[in-house]
Amino acid sequence: MTASQDLGLIGLGVMGQNLALNIADHGFSLAVFNRTVATAQAFAAAAEPGQKIQAAAELKALVAALKRPRAVITMLPAGAATDEALDALAALLEPGDVLIDCGNALYADTMRRERALTARGLGFVGAGVSGGEEGARHGPSIMAGGSADAVARIAPVFEAIAAKAEGAACYAHVGPDGAGHFVKMLHNGIEYADMQLIAETYDLMRRVLGLDHGAMQAAFAQWNRGELDSYLIEITAAVLGRIDPETGAPLVEQILDRAGQKGTGGWAVAAALELGVAAPTIAAAVEARTLSAIKAERERAAKLLSGPAPALADGAGLALDDLAEALLLAKIGAYAQGFAVIDAAGRRHGWTLDRARIAAIWRAGCIIRARLLGQIMAAYERAPDLVNLMLDPAFAARIGRGQGAWRRVVAAAVGHGVPAPGLGSALAYYDSYRAARLPANLIQAQRDFFGAHTYERIDRPGSVHTDWTS
Ligand code: 6PG
Repeated sequence: MTASQDLGLIGLGVMGQNLALNIADHGFSLAVFNRTVATAQAFAAAAEPGQKIQAAAELKALVAALKRPRAVITMLPAGAATDEALDALAALLEPGDVLIDCGNALYADTMRRERALTARGLGFVGAGVSGGEEGARHGPSIMAGGSADAVARIAPVFEAIAAKAEGAACYAHVGPDGAGHFVKMLHNGIEYADMQLIAETYDLMRRVLGLDHGAMQAAFAQWNRGELDSYLIEITAAVLGRIDPETGAPLVEQILDRAGQKGTGGWAVAAALELGVAAPTIAAAVEARTLSAIKAERERAAKLLSGPAPALADGAGLALDDLAEALLLAKIGAYAQGFAVIDAAGRRHGWTLDRARIAAIWRAGCIIRARLLGQIMAAYERAPDLVNLMLDPAFAARIGRGQGAWRRVVAAAVGHGVPAPGLGSALAYYDSYRAARLPANLIQAQRDFFGAHTYERIDRPGSVHTDWTS
């Protein structure tokens, strides 16, 4: 091979293949490598006229096929597989060449890799790529982290292949080293929360309002034309309308209620805890998946543990519109939490994270794309230092208007014994956040009681200890 190709790409799983085709469609020539060489050969052989894709049988050949300074994208499972590929590539590359990890890497790994590769004179970009298979193929949302020089090498490719929102590419260089993967991790945390909130809403529609699948599909389809307009609501309507060809029943009811998770949601929660930022709705979404996974244990518990009398689909005084309000407001709460974590990470790591820009590039291409993101972008444009999204006057007013419905929904869920940890945690987050006084004074007293941890008084500065047993 001559050194003719614009880019290298390693890892031809579903995401890697679709990203490669997207890149090739935009006129960039590629050398591709996959651990199973036959996969790369078959992939290159299937390229359409105009798509310049060469398969390499080994990494050395891939590197030899690239124009200088070389740029190689990795799209591999997070962890050891990515480390191995980066190490092997680093040994073959020269100073000035750039490696771009487009997988769902843990941001701390990206920071470590950036340090190690930069020390060897190589550029490193950690890029979060969202949008699933379809996004990778036709336009994802891309969050890049790395030095300006390293990112500049790949920016024209990202600009070209990213989704477009109102004509602008959904690609941003969000910050240095791990910033891109950090922002993608919070995207996924919000994705988990959004999915959980929708699932709870479906459960309440079915078990409290007694709606059938046609009515539920119609409700989500109608919501998708209003404020709730989003990709996840759109696909929910499509899912609810699908009939299982084997049984003739709604397909969704034939699906085992055990949710998988590959880890990014949990990472987001761990990062929030580590930063000392509350993200209860994201945590509730991760934990709901964890509880769903213990199916056999739940089935045993269902026979032993009682709850309220079975919900009789009595409506509990709820209207369908109440559910739409609760879903929207809880979703605002989840975004507020996610952006608060992003903000704190920026301060901790010295990253200047522009939240208006992040909201802007989430408006298209990614899984959480939603009409709401345009309003979130506007809120951060109005006030770049906004401490919490709920404090934006437009959002504060919107929550104020809908909170009655939100409270009715959470009360109905509790009353009927239908779990709604996402909707409920977001409401508790709102109520805690707006409380000028919380019962933490009692907690401080207890801490001082059993551990002499001391407390502060409301009327003067300083630490005080009381001998509580005297
Ligand atoms: C995306 C998605 C994707 C992510 C899964 C999460 O933005 O395209 O976030 O990158 O990996 O959707 O997968 P799990 O639900 O399996 O954790």
